[in-house]
Parts: sequence; structure tokens; C-alpha cells
Amino acid sequence: MKTALIIIVTILNYTTSLAANCSQPYYQCGGSSWNGLTCCTSGYSCKKFNEFFSQCVPSNNSSPDSTTKKITKKTTTATKKATTKKTTTKKTTVKKTSKITTTKKTATKTTNIIKTKNPSISNSSSLSNVNITELIGYASLNGGTIGGQGGQTYTVSNQSQLESALANNDKKIIIVDGIIKLTSDIIVNSNTSLIGANKNSGFTNGGIKMKNAKNIIIQNLKFSYCLGSNKDCINAQKSTNIWVDHCEFFNDRNHGKDYYDGLIDFTHASDYITISWCSIHDHYKASLIGHSDTNGNEDTGKLHITYHHNYFKNVGSRLPSLRFGTGHVFNNVYENIESSCVNVRMGAQALVENNVFLNANKPISTNLDSSQEGSVIQRNNDFGTTSNTNSITSVGTLNSVPYKYTVDNVNSIYKIVINNAGTH
Ligand SMILES: *[C@@H]1O[C@H](CO)[C@@H](O)[C@H](O)[C@H]1NC(C)=O
Ligand SMILES: *[C@@H]1O[C@H](CO)[C@@H](O)[C@H](O)[C@H]1NC(C)=O
Ligand SMILES: *[C@@H]1O[C@H](CO)[C@@H](O)[C@H](O)[C@H]1NC(C)=O
Ligand SMILES: *[C@@H]1O[C@H](CO)[C@@H](O)[C@H](O)[C@H]1NC(C)=O
Ligand SMILES: *[C@@H]1O[C@H](CO)[C@@H](O)[C@H](O)[C@H]1NC(C)=O
Ligand SMILES: *[C@@H]1O[C@H](CO)[C@@H](O)[C@H](O)[C@H]1NC(C)=O
Repeated sequence: MKTALIIIVTILNYTTSLAANCSQPYYQCGGSSWNGLTCCTSGYSCKKFNEFFSQCVPSNNSSPDSTTKKITKKTTTATKKATTKKTTTKKTTVKKTSKITTTKKTATKTTNIIKTKNPSISNSSSLSNVNITELIGYASLNGGTIGGQGGQTYTVSNQSQLESALANNDKKIIIVDGIIKLTSDIIVNSNTSLIGANKNSGFTNGGIKMKNAKNIIIQNLKFSYCLGSNKDCINAQKSTNIWVDHCEFFNDRNHGKDYYDGLIDFTHASDYITISWCSIHDHYKASLIGHSDTNGNEDTGKLHITYHHNYFKNVGSRLPSLRFGTGHVFNNVYENIESSCVNVRMGAQALVENNVFLNANKPISTNLDSSQEGSVIQRNNDFGTTSNTNSITSVGTLNSVPYKYTVDNVNSIYKIVINNAGTH
């Protein structure tokens, strides 16, 4: 019943600051560059999230601990199928599996993995500097995304410890302490939170993969120079309920466009994804959602993704490139974008609102690079110094989304995003 209540979604059609008044719930009510009203409607109070952002939240619901309510017991066939498929995948890479097993024994013997019982990701003080933000967007639907909340905590600082922690198929929280140079891409399994211990924690030289996985949080991690087998920093296939938050992604632009591949790619009917507060820079092809014009049978009706409060800088394209899916792109900053930004194609639809584009070529397009167009509703975007080269050939019907969210005023978004996106 609780699940049902949570899944019942409220379609809220927020208007922007012009219509602001104190009767709007979840409205921004403060922050260093905020010039709007600071009052909240009755039953709501103004909660400070950081120096730049305060928001009206229900008075008795101001703790992020409320996400605990989203825990759901899922015994769906989809999950069972996922488990079976994962086993198959492991079998086909026998060499890798045996390596992991060996490493596991070593790591367990040296007992340097720190285990803690019943930790809670909601307790930011137990996770050093991580500022827990509220999950907003498509990853909050379909039962929600809580990662390994309530599971065992492991702290890892090298690849063998990480692989050993991931060998546990139960829910778990893995704290990554420092930058780990990966010798291969790492497979992250279901019900896992992978969280950086501080602002300089994460991975270099390789990336992470998810396949047939469900319910994963990737938070406060730096990814760079991802040159594993996929050449992606995050590569997810057939995976659902993934939240990527407060991460940083970068490679370089000194090599060709195809030397690296994607930074955050979701393909093969992945679904219910949120990418928030990430800093994504110095790269060519950033975020591919739906990999091929010919994959419509698998992807149509899937690939629901939200991007909010991300800072895209010095990137070539794919911010995102969205085929067949449904995208909500709000409160992001695009700066120095060479080829194109939001590229919606093959029947995909997107709502693109309250973003800032600075020196960004082709902010929004629906007719680029594919045989069929996509559709977009755009509103309240600031195209700044960008000469408006939008190419919206089809205006869609996606003018609201089935979850609660607040849009920040486009005039304050640049400062909010550049000061808060990325790791802490
Ligand atoms: C205040 O906002 C609410 C909710 O958006 C709206 O219904 C109401 O008309 C607004 N009132 C004024 C005076 O603008
Ligand atoms: C995290 O949030 C706290 C309080 O909201 C704020 O004071 C602090 O500056 C934030 N930390 C970072 C690194 O942004
Ligand atoms: C929180 O507030 C709502 C609405 O005012 C109320 O129905 C609910 O009982 C309150 N919950 C708690 C735990 O106080
Ligand atoms: C993840 O956790 C859910 C809820 O406890 C459980 O039903 C599911 O089987 C788990 N998934 C895997 C792959 O272990
Ligand atoms: C959060 O962690 C701190 C330090 O470990 C602890 O004192 C506090 O009781 C925890 N709070 C909650 C709500 O668990
Ligand atoms: C990983 O780190 C642990 C703890 O510091 C150490 O004992 C172990 O030798 C390291 N393993 C590798 C392969 O570096």
C-alpha cells in the first residue's frame, strides 16, 4: 500500500518566478543570489540546502531520511530475469570471474576492508563531506532508487578491495576513498551505492558498467580518462533506477573524437534514470541515450531520463543525444559546446526548461543525425550569447512530468550550478 501511495504521482505544472507567490509548495525561498520571496505556504517551511539554495519543503518532512519510505520489495519477474542474465554474463568471461575470486580471497585475508553494520546513506555526517541532495526525476519513480541503503558499508581504496566488495550480491554501500586507477571496467550490481569519500575520490583509466542491474546510486565520484573495454565512464544496458549525483566526468580533447567514447551512456532499454549535479567537461560525445536508429523495438517506451543542475563545459555534443526515450532536461548550464547540445531524435520526446546556454552551438534540435525526428517543448531557457540556432521541427506533448520538482529561476541557475555541481 505504501508503495502504491508513493507511485501515485502528482502532476505539478510549476510556473517560473514571474508567477511566484508564497502559496507554491517546493518553491525556492532563499540562496545567496536569490531575489525572490522567502516565505512558504502553510505547512511548508524554508529549508536551507546550501549557501545558494533554500526550498519550501513540508514542515514535518525536512529530513532526507524520508527517502527510506521508498524502499519497496520487488519480486517481479523482471528482477529474476536480470539475475539470471547476469550469471550468464559472468560465465562468458570466465577469466575475469576467476581473477575476481582470487582477489577476493586476498582482500578478505588482509581484512583492510572496513565494514560497518546498518549504515544509512541519509546520514551525511557519516559520509564525510557528501551533501545528500534529494532524488528528483525519473529515478524516483518505478519504486524509487535507494541504492544499498541499509546494507553493509565497505570502504575501499584499490581495485581488488572494490571487486571484493562488489562480489557481495546483497545491498551494500561502497565508499571509495581516493582515486583508483582501474585496469579494467568494473561491473556494478544491483542494490548498490557507490560513493566517494571526499572530493578527490573516484576512478581513472577505466569506467563502470551496469547490465541487467536495478537500483544503483553513483555519488560524489570523479571519473576520468576512461579507457576500459567500453571506453565509457558509465555504460549501462538493460538497467533501471539509476541515480548519478554530484559526480565529475572528464577526459580530454587532445585526441580524436573517437579516442574515448561516452561519459554517461544508457542503452538497451535502460529506464528510470536521474543525472543530477554533475560536472561534465572536456570531452567530445558526452551522453548517449539509445545507441542506434535500428533499436526501436527494444527502446521504445523505455529510456526515461532526467538531467538537472548539471554543468556541461567544453564538450562536443550529446548533452544528451536521446533516441526513442523521454527526457526532462532542466536547470542545466551549457558552456562552450562545439557541435550540439540537446539532440532529440527517432520519436524521442523531451521537455527542456530553465537551462542556461552560453556559447553553446545548436542548443536544442529535433532533426539532427537520424532518419526520424524527435519532439521538444522548450520554455524559459536562456540562450544567452548563443545565436539561437535551435532546430525544433516538431513540438511535442511532453509539457509536464509525473513527479514533483521545482525549477530554479533561470536567472540564478548559472551561479547555483557552477558552485555546487561536481564532487565535494
Ligand atoms: C499563487 O500561486 C498559486 C499556485 O501556482 C496560484 O494558484 C495563485 O493564483 C497565485 N496567486 C497569485 C496572487 O498570483
Ligand atoms: C554542504 O551543505 C552545507 C549546508 O547546507 C553547506 O554549508 C556546505 O557548504 C555544503 N558543502 C559543499 C562542499 O558544498
Ligand atoms: C505531516 O503533515 C501531514 C500534513 O500536515 C500530516 O497529515 C501528517 O500526519 C504529518 N506527519 C507527521 C509524522 O507529523
Ligand atoms: C535488490 O533488492 C530488492 C529489495 O530488497 C530485492 O527484491 C532484489 O532481489 C534485489 N536484487 C538483486 C539482484 O539482488
Ligand atoms: C549520524 O551520524 C552521526 C555520527 O556518526 C551520529 O552521531 C548521528 O546520531 C547519526 N544520525 C542519524 C539520524 O542516524
Ligand atoms: C589494496 O589495499 C589494501 C589495504 O591498503 C592492501 O592491503 C592491499 O595489498 C591492496 N591491494 C592491492 C592489489 O594493491
